[in-house]
Amino acid sequence: MPELFEILTKEEIAPKIYRMDIYAPAIAQKRRAGQFVILRVYERGERIPLTIVDSDPEQGSVLLVFQVMGKTTAMLSDMEVGERLADFVGPLGSPTHIENYGTAVCVAGGVGTAAAYPIARALKEAGNHLISIVGARTKDLLIMTQEMGAISDRLELTTDDGSYGFHGFVTDRLKKMIDEEKVHIDMVLAVGPAIMMKAVAELTRPYGIKTIVSLNPIMVDGTGMCGMCRVRVGDEIKFACVDGPEFDGHLVDFDELMKRQRMFVEQERKAYEEYLKDKQGKCGEGER
Ligand code: NAD
Ligand code: FES
Repeated sequence: MPELFEILTKEEIAPKIYRMDIYAPAIAQKRRAGQFVILRVYERGERIPLTIVDSDPEQGSVLLVFQVMGKTTAMLSDMEVGERLADFVGPLGSPTHIENYGTAVCVAGGVGTAAAYPIARALKEAGNHLISIVGARTKDLLIMTQEMGAISDRLELTTDDGSYGFHGFVTDRLKKMIDEEKVHIDMVLAVGPAIMMKAVAELTRPYGIKTIVSLNPIMVDGTGMCGMCRVRVGDEIKFACVDGPEFDGHLVDFDELMKRQRMFVEQERKAYEEYLKDKQGKCGEGER
């Protein structure tokens, strides 16, 4: 029997993007689409939120997909199967409101595709005709295309550099679908970098297409206590960790979100550089 929060599997699915199954049976049983966990790699470490991509209640495992972006995700990627996380709290956040809208388009950008997948699957299971647009900067960074293809009635792939599929942003592909192909769309789900979600919301606004976005502000406690994840939605202040993470994309103040996401960029950069330096030093010692 594995220990609680033990890493059961680890795989690098694209450069610096990993998938891991973590042993957490209670979370695996309870979680629903759109929810996330907050984990710490070690006891004095930073807390980071990660979307629950999938779970296997029989095995008691929770699937995470993450990109190495700084010290904590680098440390996580350096852990091996059999090691344990210090803690793993969840399921957090409100489950996504799912209904049969008719035709739903899931627009997924980069590593956000992993967070889009469980919601897209729930939309499909609710009877929606599901079209997915999955994009990345380049071919090697396209992730979970097989999984997205398996649940979608139609899958379109895009790359910014044209190395695979449609040449352009996910929004360019969506625009083509709306303007040229005249596809009737009842709702759009957008998950990816904030700038992408903002662009999707701006694109759908004039057409009045309902647009749901999954936000990724900095989080600390994940329970609505610290205020770190606050976002402006219309004329209200919401906490993404308890009121979201999904909101009406036409009401979100993305500029404020992006400003808040950059609050600790300098500290994050320093911590990452120090971690890499320490790691290099340790590798060097090992070689001598
Ligand atoms: P990226 O910068 O490579 O962008 C992914 C895709 O988004 C691009 O291929 C493009 O199609 C689209 N895109 C990017 N900029 C755009 C613009 N200005 N206009 C229109 N479309 C645009 O993304 P990445 O490096 O894979 O993703 C990292 C980001 O995703 C991080 O900021 C991370 O926090 C975020 N993320 C978000 C969630 C979430 O739940 N929203 C989950 C995981 C990661
Ligand atoms: Fe603290 Fe949301 S993370 S209030």
